[in-house]
Amino acid sequence: MKTLVLSPDEAGLARAAEIIRRGGLVAFPTETVYGLGADALSAQAVTRVFEVKGRPRFDPTIVHVAAPEEVRTLWKSIPPLAEMLMQRFWPGPLTLVLPKNRSVPDIVTAGLPTVAVRMPAHPVALKLIQAAGRPLAAPSANRFGRSSPTHHEHVLSDLDNQVEAVLAAGPTTVGIESTVLSLAEPTPRLLRPGGTALEALRELLPALRVDAPTGPSSSPGTLPRHYLPRTPLFLLESGPPEASGEYLERRRCGMLAFKEPWQAFGRVERLSPAGDLREAAAQFFAALRRLDAADLSAIVAEQVPEEGLGLAIADRLRRACSGRARLVGERVWIIR
Ligand code: TXA
Ligand code: MG
Repeated sequence: MKTLVLSPDEAGLARAAEIIRRGGLVAFPTETVYGLGADALSAQAVTRVFEVKGRPRFDPTIVHVAAPEEVRTLWKSIPPLAEMLMQRFWPGPLTLVLPKNRSVPDIVTAGLPTVAVRMPAHPVALKLIQAAGRPLAAPSANRFGRSSPTHHEHVLSDLDNQVEAVLAAGPTTVGIESTVLSLAEPTPRLLRPGGTALEALRELLPALRVDAPTGPSSSPGTLPRHYLPRTPLFLLESGPPEASGEYLERRRCGMLAFKEPWQAFGRVERLSPAGDLREAAAQFFAALRRLDAADLSAIVAEQVPEEGLGLAIADRLRRACSGRARLVGERVWIIR
């Protein structure tokens, strides 16, 4: 199959919507990352999303709507808390999980009794959902386990010739996936930190739980190992070399720096010289992909402050890393 690269104009959107209505797959931009979209009410179309991504069936996907009213067809009922959050944060990078209606196919929710829904804040996403005339099920448009795509070129490098079309709208602005919040239990719970800062949610939800769920309300997709670059990534910490480990030459390593101007590495990506966590989030996945493509022995990553969008970046770093490293003179000590 030859993947159509469509411009996000009227003609491109009409073509994309037509593909969705016929049960095909279209990768489209959101403000967070590109999604791999299919008709959310077609089990067959969504099954292909899982196949193309190589995604396990136990990992449910998010359904995207173009207006808050559209949740009525997806959720059983809309509690006042959900109304309030939708009003405050939609369109935007906040996904809400609530008990689902029967019309939502089980493949979308991996058999869970709940469905995750969000209204993205990207004009192209909203226009596509409207033109298709149905909600879109869309996980991030990357191969399963790999970094999320923040540019249509990333989508093409992962999924070229496996999907019908990609709407080519350049880089996304937020750069990190949506925050996932469950309202399906007595106390709201954070299932995944993301583009909506925890601090902003806490203002409205003082009782918000952030501990990992157990049992049926858990978020099966938030696996401990995810976002994996091909080059092993290590989180930088300070201290002398530990008893067990090995040295790597710094120039054979790449550095994913937050704001410090690290120079003595084979390649350096700085997320935000000004130390702005929003800018860092927007740069994160693209910087990781560039380092991964640079033919290095390892990538070492600086920790970021766990506040604002830094919480989501730190979460992705933890799940992308293979271990810890320390700097010792001109070398990198990989802790084994
Ligand atoms: O920003 C985003 O959220 C992007 C764009 C494309 O919208 N989408 C995205 O989708 O990141 P995905 O499929 O890569 O991540 C969906 C997350 C997973 O961690 C999954 O476990 C969780 O949402 N999730 C989906 N449905 C759920 C449910 N019913 N209950 C609990 N967690 C759910
Ligand atoms: Mg993903």
